[in-house]
This record gives sequence, C-alpha cells and structure tokens, in this order.
Amino acid sequence: MRRMTKEEKLKWVNTGPAWMYEFDLGEGVKTPLLIEELRSVHQTREQMILPIIDKFFPKGLSGKCCLDVACNEGYFSHLLYKHGANVRGTDIREVNIQRARAVQALLGYDPARLVFEVEDFFNNRDQADTYDLTLFLGLLYHIENPMSALRLLHKITRTLCVIETQLTRQTAPIISGWGQTGVTLELPASMALYQEPDMDENNLAAFNSLSFIPNVAAVRQLLVSAGFTEITQLSPPPAANLQYLCGDRGIFLALKPENPT
Ligand SMILES: C[S@@+](CC[C@H](N)C(=O)[O-])C[C@H]1O[C@@H](n2cnc3c(N)ncnc32)[C@H](O)[C@@H]1O
Repeated sequence: MRRMTKEEKLKWVNTGPAWMYEFDLGEGVKTPLLIEELRSVHQTREQMILPIIDKFFPKGLSGKCCLDVACNEGYFSHLLYKHGANVRGTDIREVNIQRARAVQALLGYDPARLVFEVEDFFNNRDQADTYDLTLFLGLLYHIENPMSALRLLHKITRTLCVIETQLTRQTAPIISGWGQTGVTLELPASMALYQEPDMDENNLAAFNSLSFIPNVAAVRQLLVSAGFTEITQLSPPPAANLQYLCGDRGIFLALKPENPT
C-alpha cells in the first residue's frame, strides 16, 4: 500500500469524529483527542496496568495470547503488542476497527501478532482459556447484560483479566423488601441504570442498549459470580486522574489462579 503523505495523514486524522486516543503518526501528525481529560485517564490506566502485567508475566508477554475487548481504536492493544504478545483487539463499531487497522498499518505493527476485528463481545465464540490475559476496559458500564459478559470473559481468560469501569458512589446498602411484609434485605452491591443519549454519534458509548453502572461491591460480586476467585481493586497512584482518586472509576484484577502464568 502506498504511504500516506503528511498532508493526507493530517486530512485523515482531522476528518471527524475526534479520537479516543492520541496516536503519534510521525511527521508531527497526531490524532486529535475527543476530550483533553482522556490523556490523563489513559496515563493513569497505563501507570496502573503495566506494572501488573510485569508482575504477573515477569518474562514478558512473548508467546502469550491477549484479548483487548472493546478496543476502540486499539491503543491498549498496542501496549500489549509492544510487550511481545499476540493480540486480538475487538470492538462492536466498524468505524473504530477501521481506524485501529489504519493506525496499525501506518505504525507498521506486524499483522501476524496484532489483529483487529469487529465483534459484539456477546458473540465471542473463543474456546475456554484461549487468552493468557484479557483487558476489559471501559465496557462493563456500557452493556445491559454485564453478568453474561463477565461469565464469557471468565470462560475465555486463562489467567488474568483486568477490568476497568465507571463506578457509582453508592456505598450504603440498598434496602429491599423480600417476600413477606416487614422482611427486608440489606444489599451492599447495586447497579444504576443509565439510558445513554448519544449512542448514534459517540463511538465510545454503548452500542444499542441500556447501561448498568456498578458500585464497587457489585463489581466484586459480579466477578466472583462469574467464577473468578481472586479479585483485587488497584489503588491509584497519588498523581492519578481525579476520577480514579475519587472512586468514580476503578481498576480491578480478576484471577483464575488454577492456571499459572
Ligand atoms: C468507553 S469505550 C472503551 C474503549 C477502550 N476499551 C478503553 O477503555 O480505552 C467503550 C467501547 O466499547 C465498545 N462497545 C460497546 N458495546 C460493545 C459490545 N457489545 N461489544 C464490543 N464492543 C462494544 C464501543 O464501541 C467503544 O469502543
């Protein structure tokens, strides 16, 4: 394929919509970010996630299979690729995957080790334990069946899954009636319903569904119910993006310790 000129690259990256990630495409051309705050969101995620990958895979990811679920334009797939992994990035939106493929081609990343495909995660048919590492970043709160997504994620993950999600601020238990007058339950885990208003024009949004935003207790309970046995919430570093520091977003590790790295 003919290399794009600088002018062609500039025209392409600035043909809307703006981007989820800032890719440096050389010759001074960078993809314009949709929201400036995304820069520190991604920096915080990288700072929190990369040391974990080094800890769990001390020999690197060479020869390991990784899945980046809902990869959007593929930035986190690139990070895994640069760590040596064989990576599959998937997203439900064709436009995101087209961009991911075009950026990959411009950066010259080996298609034998990095593949981007359009896939609704609920249609994933991978075999059990296919991926040594799965990334499930920014999707849990954009789907109407989070439990079934996490069961699927548990099935296809061999060792470690990293889940990143928006969180509600609900810390007090929800009180619910239960079958008899005067009998109530105190339920610490809860989810808030959100009908996203911008699914047609926002390529970061839910695709066609109601969204369920969990609180911290719900994330833990969903992951345990899906079959993960060790769940850890990562602490944000002091200079993290404020959403992580105030608990509006969180990063969780979910392990299948029966499968060593
Ligand atoms: C907030 S973005 C997160 C992107 C990336 N994972 C990250 O966190 O940097 C949510 C992404 O989920 C994708 N998405 C929504 N529903 C999906 C589904 N059912 N299966 C796969 N991807 C989906 C959207 O197209 C969008 O790219």
